[in-house]
Amino acid sequence: MAKFIVQKSGPLMGEVEISGSKNAVLPIMAATLLCEEQCVIMDVPKLRDVDVMSQILVRIGANVKDELEQNKLTVTTSEIAETEPPYGLVSKMRASFVIMGPLLARVGRARIPLPGGCAIGSRPIDLHLKGFAALGAKIVEGSGFVEAQADRLRGTTVYLDFPSVGATENIMMAAVMAEGTTVIENAAEEPEIVDLANFINKMGGRIKGAGTDTIKIEGVEKLHGTTHHVIPDRIETGTFMLAAAITRGNVLIKNSLPDHVKPVIAKLRECGVSVEDTLEGLRVDATRGKFTATDIKTMPYPGFPTDMQSIFMAFLTTVEGKSTVIETVFENRFMHVSELSRMGANITTKDRSATIIGGAKLTGTQVVATDLRAGAALVLAGLVAEDFTEVDEVYHIERGCERFVDKFSALGANIVKESPDSNNYNKYGKAEQ
Ligand code: UD1
Repeated sequence: MAKFIVQKSGPLMGEVEISGSKNAVLPIMAATLLCEEQCVIMDVPKLRDVDVMSQILVRIGANVKDELEQNKLTVTTSEIAETEPPYGLVSKMRASFVIMGPLLARVGRARIPLPGGCAIGSRPIDLHLKGFAALGAKIVEGSGFVEAQADRLRGTTVYLDFPSVGATENIMMAAVMAEGTTVIENAAEEPEIVDLANFINKMGGRIKGAGTDTIKIEGVEKLHGTTHHVIPDRIETGTFMLAAAITRGNVLIKNSLPDHVKPVIAKLRECGVSVEDTLEGLRVDATRGKFTATDIKTMPYPGFPTDMQSIFMAFLTTVEGKSTVIETVFENRFMHVSELSRMGANITTKDRSATIIGGAKLTGTQVVATDLRAGAALVLAGLVAEDFTEVDEVYHIERGCERFVDKFSALGANIVKESPDSNNYNKYGKAEQ
């Protein structure tokens, strides 16, 4: 099993270039299924999840030209050959469920293995299915699959009980060639939704209001190919902001969009960390000053992102005083707490709330990355803990961050990856070739 050995490091210094957004590119890749023509996607991060999505697209009938060394993917799906992607692939990544909307739109049928629960909660898909049903699809669930079928989808109004990112994307894609107008109310407002809508509009789609809580989709007959650059990854941006903060370093973060990380900037400033939006990028300087505790509550965008919760918490363990972190988006997203506590952090949890008494001395030990963001949090804690921290199951971390070790090492972090063998991911879900 691959692991990271993290050694206490000095303040991180230098600059880092942020990659394209994982959570934006996955639905954009799915959206290429909406047309027969060639779509070129640029600024694609070279990540395992992108590899899994590519393989799913290939099984569906796409021709995928992978030039990921140049962060480029070219996808052409002249014909849909298969509407039932294999469980072996779909089960590797929950986000693969977003192929259902485009398949329904293009050929009126999809049969997808039900995504299971995961470490951070049960993660149901009821809102996706509610949307498809409202558009006129017949939904059948059973024996581990969900099947949707419709001769022609018809525009309607869909109210989401919760602004789910995946459901908003899936319903938006299903509705794009439906008859008439679809309105998604209480839609998710995340930047990744806006990027997807921009991509689809470049293909000839007519989507308005993405980035607000009401999205209007006017159905069109057909879409065409296009070229698109993916937005920078706001969670990777936040990860490096916190890496600078926790090590009391000074890092220039290039290719970031400050508007997308407003809550992270606000909370860091509240703690006393200097964050400056410069012409070259975001400069996070924690080399001076005394830092204070703060309270965080995760919310759908534009609130504080749940994906930054564990990473910010790692920083709060190093700040004198009492901080509170409330998780409202996922039901079970405190898996990192027990690992941080094993390193010496003083954290107690009650339901969805964690109280951190900052300033306790952290000491390296063996910890497990339970999900990709929790893994990043443990690496950050390892950078300031005494001795060595061994972070196991790092395939999670590498799902979310391109060239993780290289980028951190370039800033002065002491991180080494240890792999038992060159083919070490197979047991943990390396995508089939
Ligand atoms: C996406 C992101 C993930 C991020 C999350 C919330 C991708 C690939 N992943 O995940 O990194 O943490 O948004 O910002 O973009 N829910 C339902 N029913 C549904 C769908 C969701 O109850 O049909 C609930 C979930 O259980 C969860 C909450 O809604 O509690 C948010 O989930 P959602 O916004 O759908 O997250 P994802 O799209 O899975």
